[in-house]
Amino acid sequence: MNHKIIHLEPFGVLIEPTKENTHVNDLDAKALKLLFEQEQLIVLRGFKTFEESSDFSRYCEVWGEISIWPFGKVLDLVQKEQPDDHIFDNSYMPLHWDGMYRPQVPEYQIFQCIKAPLSGQGGRTTFSNTMLALEYAPDDHIELWKKAVVNYQRRVEFYNSRTISPVITKHPRKGYPVIRYNEPHLEKKGIFVNPPDIEVTGVDAEDVEILHKSLHQALYNPKNFYAHAWKSRDIVIADNFTLLHGRERFISQSPRHIRRVQVLSNPPFNNPHLESYQ
Ligand SMILES: [Fe+2]
Repeated sequence: MNHKIIHLEPFGVLIEPTKENTHVNDLDAKALKLLFEQEQLIVLRGFKTFEESSDFSRYCEVWGEISIWPFGKVLDLVQKEQPDDHIFDNSYMPLHWDGMYRPQVPEYQIFQCIKAPLSGQGGRTTFSNTMLALEYAPDDHIELWKKAVVNYQRRVEFYNSRTISPVITKHPRKGYPVIRYNEPHLEKKGIFVNPPDIEVTGVDAEDVEILHKSLHQALYNPKNFYAHAWKSRDIVIADNFTLLHGRERFISQSPRHIRRVQVLSNPPFNNPHLESYQ
């Protein structure tokens, strides 16, 4: 055994090498996939990893077919001088699911931390396990969520899309209920660059605020919420079908560089909620 497995709270696992110079490629891919099926989040820490973007994306192909963007396979998440979207800012990022505005929704998100912020600088990536959130939420909240359908409109460099999704849907492969929701941003316009438009239908106007508040409470419940404090060389594999994810604010100009690849399910999952895509 070249590694040990430690359970994270409240979900997910951390895997660390027990022998020096163990490379991520030395881990058994089949065993990792099985573990992923049970845990929804895997953190690989302390392993030798990948120098080049192309080495990283080659590793990701082991997990399945990579979702290709106009910029290629690997997104470099780094703060930009004058970002035209909050993704490249140092602001917090509301919980959402990846691919919500794209023709296919990836099952896996695979991250490689090239440079982590220093301790105290913020910038944790946040994950909410919505399968667990639904187990813990009170019935009256779930009844309200079942009625709600949310209309999202978002324009970024690579698309201008509209998505209409029920708050509660099913995991595309496993069928258990999950929450699909992009929470409205909490920070003021101007500070939060390029927010999406979010409009709720299906519930009474006076219940919209209750809907957002109850979802916020449920998704950030410590019993199903995990915030990952990055260390350089971490690899994180997350279940984009079950979890929602976001980011905590970090101090501007902190060293924070994370690569992200999206891997499709097998067969690929066509986005059933995409209304328009340009
Ligand atoms: Fe994302």
